[in-house]
This record gives sequence, C-alpha cells and structure tokens, in this order.
Amino acid sequence: MEGGTNARARAPRGPYGAYHGQRERKPDETLVRVGPGTPCGEYFRRFWQPVCWSSHLGELPKRLRILGEDLVAFRDGRGKVGVLDLHCSHRGTSLEFGKIQECGIRCCYHGWQFDIDGRVLDAPGEPEGTPIPGRVWHGAYPAREWRGLVFVYMGPPGDVPEFPVYDALEREDADCVLRHWHSPCNWLQMRENEMDPAHLTFLHTRVFGMQFTPVYGELSSMEFKETPNGMIYVTVRRWKEYLYLRVSEMILPNISRISGIEDAESETVFDRRGGALNWTVPIDDTNTLSIGMGDIDKNLAIDGLDAYRDRQVRAGGYTVGAGDVGQTGETSYEQRQRAPGDWDTWVSQGTIAAHNRENLGYTDQGIVLYRKLVKSGIADLAKGRALKARLDTAPNAPLETYANNTVLRVPSANSPAAEEAMKLRFGREIMDAVFEGRLRKRHLGAERPGDFVFKP
Ligand code: FES
Ligand SMILES: [Fe+2]
Repeated sequence: MEGGTNARARAPRGPYGAYHGQRERKPDETLVRVGPGTPCGEYFRRFWQPVCWSSHLGELPKRLRILGEDLVAFRDGRGKVGVLDLHCSHRGTSLEFGKIQECGIRCCYHGWQFDIDGRVLDAPGEPEGTPIPGRVWHGAYPAREWRGLVFVYMGPPGDVPEFPVYDALEREDADCVLRHWHSPCNWLQMRENEMDPAHLTFLHTRVFGMQFTPVYGELSSMEFKETPNGMIYVTVRRWKEYLYLRVSEMILPNISRISGIEDAESETVFDRRGGALNWTVPIDDTNTLSIGMGDIDKNLAIDGLDAYRDRQVRAGGYTVGAGDVGQTGETSYEQRQRAPGDWDTWVSQGTIAAHNRENLGYTDQGIVLYRKLVKSGIADLAKGRALKARLDTAPNAPLETYANNTVLRVPSANSPAAEEAMKLRFGREIMDAVFEGRLRKRHLGAERPGDFVFKP
C-alpha cells in the first residue's frame, strides 16, 4: 500500500495530491489562546485594552466578554466606571440584570451591592453584623476613559502600567471618530491583515475591481522595520512621475496605526491625513473586537469611494458597516462572493486559522515579524523582563506614532532592477526619517517642503 499513515502527515507534493496532505489543521497554540493563565492571554493582560465606547454605558449595565472572561461594565451615579466579574459573588446571577447605584451596582437576585473596586457594600438579606462585606470581594478591574473609549487593565492589581496616550488621539487638525466591529474568528488573523500590505493590490484592487484607487494595483516594494514599541513598514509604489510611500505602524501587543488610503494628488511630504488607530481585542479564542478611531482631517473632502465612510464618521462615530469596504459580513453571501472584503478574508481562514497548513512567502514578511515580536513579548513576560510598549513611568507628552503618506516626484530609473533598488532605498530612507522625527519637523512648517534630500 502506498504511503501508509506517515503520508497523511505530509503536505501535498504533486498533482491531485490532497490524499497525501495533512488532514489535521492546527493553529500556533502560543499565539491563539488568550484565556486566563495562557501565555498570550497573560501577555495581553499586561496592557490597557479598550473594551467599549463611553457612550455604551448608559442607564443599563453592559455585558462584555474580553480575553475569555465574562464581565459587566457600567457607570455609577458618581460617574465612575466599573468593570466587574459578570457573575455575582453570592450565587452567580449575572450582573447585567443588576441595578446601577450611586456607588456601584446591586445584584437583582438578593440585592448584594458591589462598588467599582469589588468591595461588597451591602448584603441586605444577611443579619446585622454579617462578616460578608468585610470578607468577600467581588472580582473587579481598573477602568478609565479616554477620547470616548473605555479601557480596562486585566493584569495583576499591583502591577498597573501608566496609561499610554498616543499623538494620534490628540490631533487638533482632525476629527477623531470612533469605530468598532466584531469578527467571529481568532484575533491573530484579524490583526495580521494590517501587517499584510500585499493584499491591497489583490483583494482591494486587482482581483475583483477597484475597492481602492488604481495606484494600489501595483504590487509595492516593501520594507519592514522593528521599532522600540513594535514595528513599522513602508510600501513604495510608482504613480506617474511620483513615488507614493505609505508608512503604517504596529504597536505591541495589538494596536495598529494605519495611514490613509487616499493617494495624494501632488507632492506631499509627511501627510498624516486619514489615519486610524485600532486595537484588536480578543473577546475569546474565536471572537474578536476591533475598536478604535479614525482621525480624519477636518477639512478633507472625500469623494467617491470614501463618501460613505465620510458621512458615517461625521455623524459622530460609527459601527463599521457593509459599505465600508467589506469590514463586516452584513452583505449577502452572494455579494460577498462577488466582491469579498477584508472581513471575508480573515473570517474565512477558519474560526482559528491552521498555521500548520500555511506556506509563507516574500509578501508575508510583516506576518513573520509580527508573530516573532508577540512571541518575544510572551517570553519577556515569562522571564520577568520589561515589556516593549508598556509604560512604567508617565510620559510628559503624547507618545509619537509614525503612520503617514508621502508622495515624492522622482523620475523612473532606467531598468526594472534599478527602479526596485531605488524604491527600496527611498522606502528605507523615509522610514528612518519618519522615525527620527525629521519629517515631522517639516510637517510642522519648520522647514520648507520640496527640498528634502535623500541620502544616496
Ligand atoms: S445571586 Fe446576587 S445577590 Fe444573590
Ligand atoms: Fe484590507
């Protein structure tokens, strides 16, 4: 008999070879498990994570599930935000049916009342002098709000980092508009979409027509670079007599700072319009919350493709919808087959992607680097080392982010090889310049645009 059982453990190697392929689809367990006590779950728990919008906390409690834990969030009568274990410490009734109080929340079943730090304030059915309020603590996590988002720290209580405020949240020339959406799959495959610039050329432009503008139809040259807080990358495309350079950033463990997708119409150095700051927050191993904000220039008129999004965001925050280039599964199955979007790509990789069945290539450099960085963070935590992107002391200014679009007038080189080498050289130089703050200085008007000199 050909093959035998060992053949089943190999990948197909020839025509009609599915029989010989691995039947078992396995994820990278280190990266995909996020529940309490898992290595990646513990790593995520060392960082502040956004879990909902401030406006979601109204008269009624809000049930949440984050990192595999069921929680309830609310704003009490003092205006303080509480994030508590969902199940009452008495006999487990869900506090989503509780009553918000001046201080904390009261369980509907027997009236126990919990403050936002988990203190039992009242156990009204118990006799006078009951030891319960002094003895029992309900599970609680510290929460805080920033720019309309509610953040929670789910790590050890004696080890709370400073709250990081990024410059993207503080732009005065932009409207910061909130967004959130859900994907029924593991967090990693959703996150990796943003470390994968090659898909803009195929998914969004070439394969099913123009979701993005034609300039994205060119497969870009790309460079990736590790930074103290994560990684940045640049893509470089030829657009007529211009080079179009687009830098995006990933901040560990799960933040992306993405530059706009509107190609500039003339030479522009350090253009920060249309950016997004997004967190990919695991709900559990098989569900993911994307939450964050876009920062759209106040005076930017967006026509055509982006008009839908523009209308939504200017209405004051939005849940990413079907018109937003396929970020959800709201459209019909047939429509999604005829014009799939990002959501279809990451959700259809499987509830949890099978990493043992992948064949990574040149365009996956960002994926490889990102997985390496997350694994390094997990190892750093296990060894008690400082974690990248975690703040132990308060910064005296918002933290810099580096996403931008830059368009430079550069004549084509005289051969494909020379053109590619030139693009990579410009890409590296622009990444270095962005990262070292040289372009920021120009953007602020400290230097004239147009005379930026690239190193040979
Ligand atoms: S179950 Fe909540 S007070 Fe009894
Ligand atoms: Fe995309």
